[in-house]
Amino acid sequence: MLFLLTITILLCSSLRGVIAGIPDKIYGVNLGSWLVLEAWMLPQEWLDMGGEQCSDCSQCIATEFAFAQAYPDTVDEVFNKHWSTWFTQGDVNKLVDAGINTVRIPLGYWIVEALVDRETEFYPRGGIRQLQRGLKQLQAAGIHAILDHHALPGVQTAGQMFTGRCTSDVEFYTDANYQRALVWTAVMATLAHLDPSFGSVFSIEAVNEPIMDANQTPGYGDFQKNFVKVVRAVELVLGIPVPGVELSSRLASSNFTSALTTAIATNSNGFFNAEVKSALKAAVPILIEIGNELSIPTIFDFNMAAVRNQRGSLVTNFMDVNWQHNNPSNPADAAIGPQGYDNHLYYSFGGVADANPDAYLKSICNTNRVQADAALGNTPLWFGEWALSTQFNASDEFLVKWADAQKLAYSQSRGWIFWNFKVEISKLAGDLARQWSYFEAVERGYFTKDPSKFNDPHVCDAYKNTSTTNKAITKQDR
Ligand SMILES: *[C@@H]1O[C@H](CO)[C@@H](O)[C@H](O)[C@H]1NC(C)=O
Ligand SMILES: *[C@@H]1O[C@H](CO)[C@@H](O)[C@H](O)[C@H]1NC(C)=O
Ligand SMILES: *[C@@H]1O[C@H](CO)[C@@H](O)[C@H](O)[C@H]1NC(C)=O
Repeated sequence: MLFLLTITILLCSSLRGVIAGIPDKIYGVNLGSWLVLEAWMLPQEWLDMGGEQCSDCSQCIATEFAFAQAYPDTVDEVFNKHWSTWFTQGDVNKLVDAGINTVRIPLGYWIVEALVDRETEFYPRGGIRQLQRGLKQLQAAGIHAILDHHALPGVQTAGQMFTGRCTSDVEFYTDANYQRALVWTAVMATLAHLDPSFGSVFSIEAVNEPIMDANQTPGYGDFQKNFVKVVRAVELVLGIPVPGVELSSRLASSNFTSALTTAIATNSNGFFNAEVKSALKAAVPILIEIGNELSIPTIFDFNMAAVRNQRGSLVTNFMDVNWQHNNPSNPADAAIGPQGYDNHLYYSFGGVADANPDAYLKSICNTNRVQADAALGNTPLWFGEWALSTQFNASDEFLVKWADAQKLAYSQSRGWIFWNFKVEISKLAGDLARQWSYFEAVERGYFTKDPSKFNDPHVCDAYKNTSTTNKAITKQDR
């Protein structure tokens, strides 16, 4: 009797705080420049840290890689200060106040420190503790989280600060680096289920913004399939049902790393293919190390029933099929269990609409991205990155419409995640926050205080294709 009671209490206490699952509608922001720093978003802090600014970001200390290479002795301490101050409990409180229910957290592969080849690769250490700290705060605030593999081993696209290393040498699309990304995935999937601090994580995103030309991403389709299998293999070992797959032998151990080792040795069916097995195997010592370092006793003694009841499967997440061209692999073909799709839309980088307010509104009010993705099975979709940025000097009046119109468009999908929750406010940053900071845009009234509302729910009426040009002009003049 007493024994039963104890189990019930244990179950309840582990259930408390678990809020996983996709919100019915995602009202989200990115926690950009926190664990993957992009200097353009905090120009003054970056200089104060010892970074540099230059027009070609591969030519100076403009990324985490260049910084860690230049300052090997102080990099960890300097970044720890940044991590502690860029995203704080104060920011969590502001998210709650703004009605934000979801965050997307950009992460580098280097947050799993054992994956870094320290001879040739340079990144700060200690980010995993900060991730654990932030997730704990987010969970306590009831905010859902997506772990976004934002900066991939070998670098997934050329010349971008968001990959952590600005270079033209793109090496992600190779067997060795796909393999490292799978190990990262195994580690994150395990932490998501077994570290109580990760209780609000509902999804892991495989690769942020791969190269858009599918001819330049050989093997990406196979990687997508293996990514899903790694997540589901971890879940099988935890006793979470996976549609159409069974382990060929029962696992008796409540020690996860030892159960995983047994599963790798005894499950030789096609599901545990060579890549999946090798990734799981490589994850074992890493998980032992992280479990000890971060004091996560559940890694070594987990309760299968509790884990299963706590939360169902994680949502595997990919950039949508239409992110790429030239006959891309369709991530929908990789799905086993729940999966979501991510599209990013920035008008300010060109190629979407003519550089004027009318063309922007006409374009966004008629966008068919949600329907085009749905036709290829990429549902549910959310818009995981977008901003108020423009190629022209936008008036306050326009930004109110621009905010409403984008929210209307993205609300046709599962929801939206703005880039970014904030950017630096400083003399050097100038007016950057006006079009890139959610907090600032709420303060200025571009966004409604309640993210589900609009300043003008009819903002698009005059811009829909069915309306005439005349009507659009009338609306503008009103
Ligand atoms: C769990 O298993 C691992 C081997 O995978 C072993 O090194 C570790 O000591 C075990 N921990 C406990 C608490 O049994
Ligand atoms: C925007 O305004 C700034 C300052 O008022 C000016 O320097 C710049 O040329 C303008 N840009 C465009 C595209 O009109
Ligand atoms: C609306 O018009 C734009 C051009 O202005 C076109 O690109 C788009 O496909 C049209 N959308 C629909 C839904 O008809």
